[in-house]
Amino acid sequence: MTGTAVLLLDAAGPESAALARAAADRGHPVHAATTAARPAPGPGLAGQVVTDFTRPEKAVEDITAYARRRGVGAVLTANEYLTELAALVCAELGLPGNDPHLAHAARDKAAMASVLTAAGVRLPYTRLVHDDTELHNALADAAVGFPCVIKPVSGAGSAGVTVVTSAAQAAEAACTARAARGPYDGEGNGDILVQAYAAGDEYSVESVTQDAVTTHLAVTRKVVTGGARRVETGHSLPVRLPAAVEAAVYREVDEAIRAIGIRHGASHTEVIVDAAGRCTVIEIAARLGAGHIGLLLQNALGIDVFTALLDVALGRPAALTPTAHGHATVRFITAPHAGRLTSLTGFPKRGPGVPFVRWRAAIGGPVNAAGANADRLGCFIVTGPDAAEVEQRADALVRQIRVQVDLTPAPDDRDQLSSASRAAIAP
Ligand SMILES: Nc1ncnc2c1ncn2[C@@H]1O[C@H](COP(=O)(O)OP(=O)(O)OP(=O)(O)O)[C@@H](O)[C@H]1O
Ligand SMILES: [Mg+2]
Repeated sequence: MTGTAVLLLDAAGPESAALARAAADRGHPVHAATTAARPAPGPGLAGQVVTDFTRPEKAVEDITAYARRRGVGAVLTANEYLTELAALVCAELGLPGNDPHLAHAARDKAAMASVLTAAGVRLPYTRLVHDDTELHNALADAAVGFPCVIKPVSGAGSAGVTVVTSAAQAAEAACTARAARGPYDGEGNGDILVQAYAAGDEYSVESVTQDAVTTHLAVTRKVVTGGARRVETGHSLPVRLPAAVEAAVYREVDEAIRAIGIRHGASHTEVIVDAAGRCTVIEIAARLGAGHIGLLLQNALGIDVFTALLDVALGRPAALTPTAHGHATVRFITAPHAGRLTSLTGFPKRGPGVPFVRWRAAIGGPVNAAGANADRLGCFIVTGPDAAEVEQRADALVRQIRVQVDLTPAPDDRDQLSSASRAAIAP
């Protein structure tokens, strides 16, 4: 391989694997920065630097020293928890990346709320809460009201997020939010967020920014479970919103991307559009959307977003124009309740119109009730030229699936990872 060396921060997970494949296919040696706790898959890698992601300053030092030695010319990550580190490393190495001074705000939802509010982005009224007194005060704040949302400051994968309909539910929701720390977070200081509830339909906007110029690749419709704990059970793209609504959504998203300092790379902005067509930004991530959104872009629109992101990271022109005009949806399967998975029938097979299937829960193993994205058991993608037909076919396939869960806990329950720590690797 003779191309410029590429370094991935965390090379595990489906999106990282796709980035690594895109780089290797084009002749780039692929290196990885990993932790001892989550080593990279060995074969195919030109090398790896093992560091400690819980100590960002040390990690920047280790990674930049390694990158200089190996002549690395592009640094990327698909891992939500490492987007700030990626920006810091890129800045240190002088490679295309996001604003290192703002990158923290894409990870810390309190900082995100301040930065976005200052930029005039419409977002739910948000209070940072340090202790029980502040929690009580936030719940009494008329600008919060009920229902409201209690969530971790730096969570992901919907772990630890609760929609609360009364003050009586708040203490437990606060505990859940405090417990949902990311894999590289330290002990935590107990800070959580209390946020006004934004009613409406949920979408995300998938964008790529190069040299501070943003291309919106698609709007994605979410299927999200109702109730207290929200889990994304489907994404469909591209969605055509009425022109005025689409313009309002893109206005907020453009402003959010600018405010959060995204200059070179992907972003995934989650928004809620209310009945009047107003757009509220729930959060913005400085990475490609997870949940196989990259594969949906590929199958529906013919955009190879992984190669495009590689080009952005290398400082080369990225191909972002659709070459197809179809639709794609992913459906996630969840357990009806916690217990032991005893049987699965009717799960679709890969074939025409079903380009991707993935089941990751072992028969006989423990499963959680759907409380966070990491609790999803498997998924499949349906694709085709017509949006309505694709949705109908996906719904029909979901109806054929039978998941049986025994209430008896599985013997290896203790080995199960927490939702929070699995969130980084959720499909
Ligand atoms: N203020 C809000 N109003 C309405 N719904 C909300 C709000 N905040 C969160 N939600 C719901 O909870 C879900 C998870 O919240 P949020 O996106 O903040 O958490 P997350 O852990 O970053 O999620 P992920 O990483 O899966 O995107 C959202 O997708 C949405 O359905
Ligand atoms: Mg979210």
